[in-house]
Amino acid sequence: MKKWQRNAPCWCGSGKKYKLCHEAFDERILSYEKKGHVVPDRGLIKSAADIEGIKKSAVINIAVLDEIGEKIHAGMNTQEIDDIVATTTAKMGGIPADLNYEGYPKNVCTSINDQVCHGIPSKDVILRDGDIINVDCSTILNGYYSDSSRMYMIGDVDPEWRRLVEVTKEAMEEGIKAVRPWRFMGDMGDAVHQHALKNGYSVVKEIGGHGCGLEFHEDPFVSYVSKPGEEMLMVPGMVFTIEPMINMGSDAIFIDEDNGWTVYTDDGLPSAQWEVEVLVTDDGCEILSY
Ligand code: MF3
Ligand code: CO
Repeated sequence: MKKWQRNAPCWCGSGKKYKLCHEAFDERILSYEKKGHVVPDRGLIKSAADIEGIKKSAVINIAVLDEIGEKIHAGMNTQEIDDIVATTTAKMGGIPADLNYEGYPKNVCTSINDQVCHGIPSKDVILRDGDIINVDCSTILNGYYSDSSRMYMIGDVDPEWRRLVEVTKEAMEEGIKAVRPWRFMGDMGDAVHQHALKNGYSVVKEIGGHGCGLEFHEDPFVSYVSKPGEEMLMVPGMVFTIEPMINMGSDAIFIDEDNGWTVYTDDGLPSAQWEVEVLVTDDGCEILSY
């Protein structure tokens, strides 16, 4: 971490002198770094203006998922979900972040049953009674990113599958409860993991969450198979997603070779995912998008 002049305006943009603003904060981070912990650099600490910007972006992100919740039904194809994302986002002045992201061809990800994530909307994919689907929506407004996803259950869902969806949501909520400043990302990841294991499920290792806000995917990589006291130190001002993918069977996955995107469970059993974007605050955590 670069030294800052004590009487110079603080790096955070508050306009206050550094010694009266983030000096003690930086020293606290440094003390963890000296003990060998991974610590965030200043680029990951959001200013008050950044947080306002992300919250405005999230208003759209949330509205899109609400809208899908009202319209989703058996017989509908997933291109229609993509259309809702495009129209609702545009109407509210935003931009869907997925479109053209590393060549991704659609506005949103729609992952059904044994699709773990990155399902691509298509008019040929029709929702059937009993399906479980994750809709993962990411939004840009004035350069600020919001990212969240929800599960939707179509009609009459098998109780075992319903339980997977509910337990996955609980696991994410356990993760949220473990978000506290001056604790570790691994505390959060382990809270998610333990809840999944307790219920007989497995957690996908290779894909995880991410810092988010000024860019779509920022540091750190957010794992849900991490250990308490490990991974990056959480400090006030960090923004990241909690988005575990939880499998009913084994954690083994593969990527669709034809489209290069869609991830499936190896054993064909269902997978569920919920995603929330959170801010680390002075005394815990604030949900920005859900
Ligand atoms: N929304 C996903 C996430 O939660 C990323 C999707 S990238 C895409 O991080 F290109 F597939 F859209
Ligand atoms: Co995400």
